[in-house]
Amino acid sequence: MATYDTIGATYADTRRPDPRIAATIHQALGNAASVINVGAGTGSYEPPQTVLAVEPSAVMIAQRPAGSAPALEAAAESIPLADNSADAAMALLTVHHWSDLEAGIGELRRIARQRIVILTFDPDINRRFWLLEEYLPEAAALDGTRAVAVEQLATLLGGARIETVPVPHDCTDGFLAAFWRRPEAYLDPEVRAGISLFAQTSEKVLQPGLARLSDDLSCGRWHQRHADLLHREALDAGYRLLLADL
Ligand SMILES: C[S@@+](CC[C@H](N)C(=O)[O-])C[C@H]1O[C@@H](n2cnc3c(N)ncnc32)[C@H](O)[C@@H]1O
Repeated sequence: MATYDTIGATYADTRRPDPRIAATIHQALGNAASVINVGAGTGSYEPPQTVLAVEPSAVMIAQRPAGSAPALEAAAESIPLADNSADAAMALLTVHHWSDLEAGIGELRRIARQRIVILTFDPDINRRFWLLEEYLPEAAALDGTRAVAVEQLATLLGGARIETVPVPHDCTDGFLAAFWRRPEAYLDPEVRAGISLFAQTSEKVLQPGLARLSDDLSCGRWHQRHADLLHREALDAGYRLLLADL
């Protein structure tokens, strides 16, 4: 059973594609006339020219909107498709879940003719996000074991352009740092269910930090400490887009 069969049941409720991030991804795909989305989940950010989704979790596939591209239940490490199956392959917020990164990237390079686009996070920047650094260092350390260095990804891709993807303050895709200016959101179990760091960490580890966050929000300490964030429109929380031409 795929991990997201267990943790992904409400993914589509809180992980709605953000239009600004979508525009960045679609621009990165350039003039690719056919796209395969690997680790596709519920289909976020798929452009109209998507011909196929590859996704190991049936629970995620079941949440794909009606009319979206067909989905193949398979993992990135072994994609049952011919070489050069589409102009582009994309893999969004998924590579840190793969059991064999090298095999998965090898498969992207094999099935794509022209371009690979990967959205990921730079663990060195991401772990300094206030939520992790100040409230959940233990959970971050556990989660960090699966993080992928951006340089390693670029090397496996045979070279890549790397672009910063800032997180808008009202980001609609509820990934880990999406609520950087809306800290109360992290106290909502539904929001946490859509973020794998929370969904895969025990309550025992999470609760002390979440209780502290709740206290700091009630007494105004969080707002005092993070006054610099309150008027910012977007934050660099480490999210990066990698573009590789084949
Ligand atoms: C955080 S979700 C991202 C989904 C989607 N790309 C998006 O941007 O919303 C991570 C996805 O990676 C998938 N995944 C996990 N292991 C995988 C693997 N070995 N190969 C391909 N996808 C995998 C999960 O099932 C899940 O759907």
